[in-house]
Amino acid sequence: MLNVGIILGSTRPNRNGEAVAKWVQQQVKDRNDASYELVDLKDFNLPLLDEPIPPSQGKYAQPHTKKWAEKIASLDAFIFVTPEYNHATSGALKNALDFLYAEWNNKAAGFVSYGSAGGARAVENLRLIMAELQIADVRAQVMFSLFTDFKNFSQFAPDARHEPELNTMLQQLVAWGEAMKTVREQAAKRAA
Ligand SMILES: Cc1cc2nc3c(=O)[nH]c(=O)nc-3n(C[C@H](O)[C@H](O)[C@H](O)COP(=O)(O)O)c2cc1C
Repeated sequence: MLNVGIILGSTRPNRNGEAVAKWVQQQVKDRNDASYELVDLKDFNLPLLDEPIPPSQGKYAQPHTKKWAEKIASLDAFIFVTPEYNHATSGALKNALDFLYAEWNNKAAGFVSYGSAGGARAVENLRLIMAELQIADVRAQVMFSLFTDFKNFSQFAPDARHEPELNTMLQQLVAWGEAMKTVREQAAKRAA
């Protein structure tokens, strides 16, 4: 069974991200195509990157990095729930991505974003980062508008049309997540 992490990418007090990530969690609860879990960056309390050796070397020194690496290593695919901050993803999510390398490689990702323009620019920013981390990012995405999917920009009230959008994204994510599992197995065989 594929393990999919719903990565909650905002950490600030009063974040809208929590309601969005919980909506995703609620939507997937009856699915049997994968096992889904919420991964809240706030719980990992990562400082700004403080590893002395570049993460691509895989020689982690800090206990918080090892704990984060263990969680990401346990997942086969990711749903990144991202806000848009200054036309990019959050600093917290970028930092959390930067902390690791091999644990991200040859896995799949899909995006759920929110912002005045649906978080579209945050996702475009993340798609560039995905290539460098060797994460296969699926085309379908779910974008929530602060104007039409929230009341007073703070109470989440998503339009029903986003439910089929999420289903399409998940179908793509699970298919690519399974395929990337095979890619990892083949890479491990070649390395043996
Ligand atoms: C530092 C900062 C920068 C922002 N920049 C943008 C932006 O460039 N585009 C946009 O659509 N919304 C922007 N917003 C609005 C956020 O998308 C909105 O506040 C969202 O709820 C933030 O996610 P969060 O509540 O989970 O932290 C910004 C908000 C913050 C706090």
